[in-house]
Amino acid sequence: MFNGLEQGIIDQPTYDRTVRRFGEMNCRLPKWSELAHPSSIDTGLQQRLEQIDPDSPVTENLFRVHWYNGLDRKQRETVPGHLVLPPALTGCDATIIVALGYRFPMIRAHKVLAAYGCLAPRLITGQFDIDRQRAVWPSTGNYCRGGVAISKILGCRSTAVLPEGMSRERFEWLEDWVIDKNDIIRTPGSESNVKEIYDTCNELEKDPDNVILNQFSEFGNYIVHRAVTGPALETIFSAVNKDGNLTPRCYVAASGSGGTLAAGDYLKQALGTRTGVVEALECPTLLYNGYGEHNIQGIGDKHVPLIHNVFNTDFVIGIPDAASDGLNLLFNTTGGQSYLTTEKQFDPTLINSLRHLGLSAIANILASIKLAKYLGLGAADAVLTVATDGAELYTTELEKPSTYIQDNQLPITCLSSINEVANVSSIWGITPGSNNKTSALRRLTAAEIHNSGIT
Ligand SMILES: Cc1ncc(COP(=O)(O)O)c(C=O)c1O
Repeated sequence: MFNGLEQGIIDQPTYDRTVRRFGEMNCRLPKWSELAHPSSIDTGLQQRLEQIDPDSPVTENLFRVHWYNGLDRKQRETVPGHLVLPPALTGCDATIIVALGYRFPMIRAHKVLAAYGCLAPRLITGQFDIDRQRAVWPSTGNYCRGGVAISKILGCRSTAVLPEGMSRERFEWLEDWVIDKNDIIRTPGSESNVKEIYDTCNELEKDPDNVILNQFSEFGNYIVHRAVTGPALETIFSAVNKDGNLTPRCYVAASGSGGTLAAGDYLKQALGTRTGVVEALECPTLLYNGYGEHNIQGIGDKHVPLIHNVFNTDFVIGIPDAASDGLNLLFNTTGGQSYLTTEKQFDPTLINSLRHLGLSAIANILASIKLAKYLGLGAADAVLTVATDGAELYTTELEKPSTYIQDNQLPITCLSSINEVANVSSIWGITPGSNNKTSALRRLTAAEIHNSGIT
């Protein structure tokens, strides 16, 4: 039997201990159906929630592990937070709709939903001994933060296993949340060094008190996204399509564990969309059976996860990490924002909301644009996608040398990708010798552009 597909209690005494413990804590677990349709959450609890900090480790916050959190992440909305990107920005006629994951509690990313989706089935089937066992959360960052948050709330011991090269923001968060600093295990490498994480897990698993919650093979991850993320996207589409003029054509999501993609199976049935999976071009596992390093943090782990329903996936879309890096810079620097608002005349509110797009969200949007162009979609067509997290988790990325700075040479265009796919035609660059993109981003002079050979 695969983990997460059990239908009944596997170990009654363990289950009974869990029930007793949750009874003492006065803790009830939210049902998938409540997370899919949070309006069904008890009104008393909902009122209590309004007084509770969404980032505090309290059991009530389990009832915020859904897409309907409001702008302040405290109130609940009737439609999940989303962006509708105008053709002037994307350069394609189709309407690109992005569900916003930064509103999820505790970790500001929807991976807390996957973590709950993996641990809850273990708890309710008696497959996790809350008194004795430790939940081990292998990931490149967001899933293990979600796991640590859910474990802490439920009084379970937990360990995060992640590569040492992941963003400083992730480690700072983990250090605040773990009970003991030794509960963070740093493995060699960075984003695409998933094998090293699992080598460590194989060692940890020799101790039966360590339960490895492998998001790549836990069907709870698939099911929770199909049952919760799918309907949330359907609600967003209905709200955007209130005039009934749009046809939903595609759902696009990058694959890390393949969990988010499961929403595509729901949407295919509910709305008739086709599903596109996004990969980093530098790690084109599905496209070319290839692998490599990239910086679209959270995705592309050199293998096809067990829970990725490849039989229901219609397109594979490669996006270079220079594209997401470059747009992260454009969207999150004063220079980039003023270019978009002053020179390109985009609505400042729209440009301000682009900070809710993390690196993989940008890649998802670029892939949606690419797919819309490939399919020749028009103004009456919509593509749905997700922003797993926001740019706030990547501020230190703006200080790093980028993949598109070669030998510290000018000029490098950070807009090469958007030039290609999104119709923005200005060239920006980095001051020679500077590794700090935030201060160095500026418009290149005509002479610099000429000397560079960029046309
Ligand atoms: C930032 C980010 N984007 C995308 C993904 C991929 O999501 P999934 O694992 O559901 O495929 C992850 C997964 O950890 C992530 O952290």
